[in-house]
Amino acid sequence: MFYEPKNGHGLSKNPFNSLVVPRPIGWISSVDGAGNVNLAPYSFFNGVAYNPPTVMFSSGHGQVEDDGMKDSLRNIQETGEFVHNFSTWDTREAMNDTSATTAMDRDELAEAGLTPIPSTLVKPPRVKESPIHFECKLVDTYDLPNTLDDNKYTVVFGEVIGVHIADELIMENGRIDIAKLHPIARMGYQDYTEVTGETVFTMERPGFR
Ligand SMILES: Cc1cc2nc3c(=O)[nH]c(=O)nc-3n(C[C@H](O)[C@H](O)[C@H](O)COP(=O)(O)O)c2cc1C
Repeated sequence: MFYEPKNGHGLSKNPFNSLVVPRPIGWISSVDGAGNVNLAPYSFFNGVAYNPPTVMFSSGHGQVEDDGMKDSLRNIQETGEFVHNFSTWDTREAMNDTSATTAMDRDELAEAGLTPIPSTLVKPPRVKESPIHFECKLVDTYDLPNTLDDNKYTVVFGEVIGVHIADELIMENGRIDIAKLHPIARMGYQDYTEVTGETVFTMERPGFR
């Protein structure tokens, strides 16, 4: 089949999310100016530059709060900081729990039974149960239109200014032990996938050392 998204897809569900898979999950902690903690997952998330390392995530606007903004975006625009906490098999349920829409002053990190630990360079706490954290400074935001809802998405770019890696994930050869890390990633619909030692394979890139 071929479809032009502006004319609809004709399928029972929009397939777009199933066509960009698997997606890493940005699990974003942030605080507002008063220090209220927020934690939420974003699968329109990725790394977009090496030097300096930079990540992005996209936050849809809608009927979430009076201003239509998700708490993560509002907090980051107010304070200029966030943390990305790595989503693993062990944290999958808690990650999903933190996607619930809650009042701005409710601490989703604590409510999901997670343990906050201080960051080194930024105010938002890290999730202790997550083995990798990126401490990020806001670089810029970019708005994209949401033509379906006559609304918008705001893409947030953050420079990774601090990286925490659980020591037990670093192997003797200096590489990350992906099998031990056991990442999960987002598929379409309500589906996820996991990365295990068995699902990783290696290919040498031509002319690349
Ligand atoms: C796995 C997963 C991925 C998600 N990805 C996104 C996303 O990319 N963009 C978005 O706006 N919402 C996404 N959501 C929904 C948000 O997590 C949800 O709206 C959340 O309540 C936002 O929280 P906040 O208002 O505390 O920032 C996702 C939810 C889940 C469970």
